[in-house]
Amino acid sequence: MTAQLPVPTWLVGCGNMTGAIVDGWRSAGIDLSSAVVVRPSGTPVQGVRTVTNYAQSGNPPAMVLLGFKPQKLDEIAPGLARWVTSKTVVVSILAGVEADSLRDRFPNARAIVRAMPNLPVAIRRGVVGLYSADADESLRGQLGELFTTLGFGMWMADEARLSALGSVAGAGPAYVARFIAALAKAGEDRGLSAEIAQTIAQETVLGTAWLASTTRESMGDIARRVASPNGTTEAGLAVLDHDQVLDQLIGLAIEAAARRGAELAGEARQLADAPRLP
Ligand SMILES: NC(=O)c1ccc[n+]([C@@H]2O[C@H](COP(=O)([O-])OP(=O)(O)OC[C@H]3O[C@@H](n4cnc5c(N)ncnc54)[C@H](OP(=O)(O)O)[C@@H]3O)[C@@H](O)[C@H]2O)c1
Repeated sequence: MTAQLPVPTWLVGCGNMTGAIVDGWRSAGIDLSSAVVVRPSGTPVQGVRTVTNYAQSGNPPAMVLLGFKPQKLDEIAPGLARWVTSKTVVVSILAGVEADSLRDRFPNARAIVRAMPNLPVAIRRGVVGLYSADADESLRGQLGELFTTLGFGMWMADEARLSALGSVAGAGPAYVARFIAALAKAGEDRGLSAEIAQTIAQETVLGTAWLASTTRESMGDIARRVASPNGTTEAGLAVLDHDQVLDQLIGLAIEAAARRGAELAGEARQLADAPRLP
């Protein structure tokens, strides 16, 4: 079975992340002809009909992909919920917003699914975690196929594990980008041009990840193969390994992100608990 978008699919918001997902689907040959982007700016998206309000979107959606910022949820949900029927699957990429909070906003939905993608989905080398408490097997199969066209995809057993995946993979490209920039800066400090330093830093990270992925070698083994005893790399590794300074630094960054995720989840929960106007 080829992966297909449910017909019709509404993409509500199409900025960095949903734009990257659409790029990935387009290059995977997914048929986007029945999809509609709904966004206030009306900024066109290549190959996808773009409108500025739900009334222009056509038939009620079989799937809605929520692609706006978590802070916008309570501005957007009441208007959108009117179009969400018992045939609509709501897929949310909103970081930190839990399935129960989404169910509260979209009580009629056939299923609530959380997806946690990362930016390389645009070139189909992404990571996508999926979670749902109420999707049936056939829907899980359909969505699994759709999202694995974007790279490595997996269903997570619970939301804690989805958050863990998000803190490593969702945010990861930002951390890796900083690491590549730091490696490039060190190259520049040692006399390389900015352009060459950037290229070799990114090719080094890409090549190392590719090597690990194709040979299944552990990172420890790869490091050992580069660092001969008492050699230059070993001297460098001794700095990174001293008091596990690199592990600690990354651990602190991930903890800070997780704290912010918990705050966003708490805000979404509180708003869900607030009394509603009829
Ligand atoms: N960026 C990442 O790497 C990443 C990774 C995992 C998850 N996420 C999640 O992805 C979501 C989007 O992040 P982003 O980085 O893509 O944000 P973004 O680039 O700022 O895009 C936000 C989108 O929301 C749209 N929007 C704003 N108000 C709206 C409304 N009233 N109705 C419909 N659409 C509306 C905007 O439309 P206009 O363009 O028309 O203004 C824009 O397309 C967030 O919830 C984030 O947690 C992001």
